[in-house]
Amino acid sequence: MTLVDGFGRVHRDLRISLTDKCSLRCTYCMPAEGVPWIERDSILTTDELERIARICVGLGVTSIRLTGGEPLVRKDAVEVVRRLAALGPEVSMTTNGLRLAELAQPLREAGLARLNISIDTLDRERFAQLTRRDRLDDVLAGIEAARVAGFTPLKLNAVAMRGVNEDELVDLVEYAVGQGAQLRFIEQMPLDAGHTWDRAAMLTGDEILERLRTRYELESIPGRGSSPADTWLLDGGPGSVGVIASVTAPFCAACDRIRITADGHVRNCLFARDESDLVKVLRGGGSDEDLVRIISGSIAAKRAGHGIDSPTFVQPDRPMSAIGG
Ligand code: GTP
Ligand code: 5AD
Ligand code: SF4
Repeated sequence: MTLVDGFGRVHRDLRISLTDKCSLRCTYCMPAEGVPWIERDSILTTDELERIARICVGLGVTSIRLTGGEPLVRKDAVEVVRRLAALGPEVSMTTNGLRLAELAQPLREAGLARLNISIDTLDRERFAQLTRRDRLDDVLAGIEAARVAGFTPLKLNAVAMRGVNEDELVDLVEYAVGQGAQLRFIEQMPLDAGHTWDRAAMLTGDEILERLRTRYELESIPGRGSSPADTWLLDGGPGSVGVIASVTAPFCAACDRIRITADGHVRNCLFARDESDLVKVLRGGGSDEDLVRIISGSIAAKRAGHGIDSPTFVQPDRPMSAIGG
């Protein structure tokens, strides 16, 4: 049995949010005071996570990405990696990097296959403004530690914002290439807690490419598998850059993603308006078959796409930090 939706999309990529909490306060994500956090008792235990992951692997999932909030805020994150990797799928993580100087090596030893690290600017003051925390040095040390621990391919994510970091695109790429990493620029999506997203403030994928072309010769690398990024070789390679144009060039038609929130709800899309609760069944003595029914029912009900550019689009109630990126 596989997780197939009404459009024939087979779902093999499970994204699990380990916590909605975060050690940064990126302005495009949450307000300075944070958001109302999920209650502690509602967060899935590691046993519960492992059970859901095992069931999903039985349903054809071959890769699991751990997200947050910030996944490494969870105290037993390394143990979670160890237990999920033992189930067989590729396990990867998207992190803000703050704790990697200390944890990159233990994560590697626990079986983590790949790391994607967020870094929107290389300027210390700008970083402190954008994330409301003066922690750029920790992120840089974390990226270094990830490289030394042998994480390849290493990917760095930067949300590209008009009037914020648009003057740094080339510097970010140069830095990434120097680390043997791939920089991926992301179009900002309407997923912030304050619902303040403004399409005009978003740098589009085309604008990003136009700016990069002033410095590099870009050669498209065909095919992107299930990754959301289109990629280009820089000046003939080996360095490359990616663009995740979720708004102007959605990849929904090829989407193979299913999400579990930190409080045990299945979401069939980042932008889904509703979720299916696994916790009642998990904690109420339900069987694996009951859980399979909920998960496959959610996928069966998946819509064709997010429709951000349609006039009827409504932003989800939950912010990105509570959904998992
Ligand atoms: P790779 O397997 O390394 O390509 O991972 P990934 O790019 O899927 O993971 P990552 O968590 O680094 O995601 C990067 C960005 O892609 C996120 O910050 C989002 O902006 C975007 N993204 C991830 N999943 C989705 C999705 O389902 N829909 C949309 N529209 N954007 C997504
Ligand atoms: N739009 C696009 N990307 C976002 N991220 C967080 N909020 C948004 C948003 N509204 C990014 C982070 C990180 C990843 C988990 O998601 O910068 O790279
Ligand atoms: Fe934290 Fe990621 Fe949100 Fe920044 S974007 S506040 S790192 S969850």
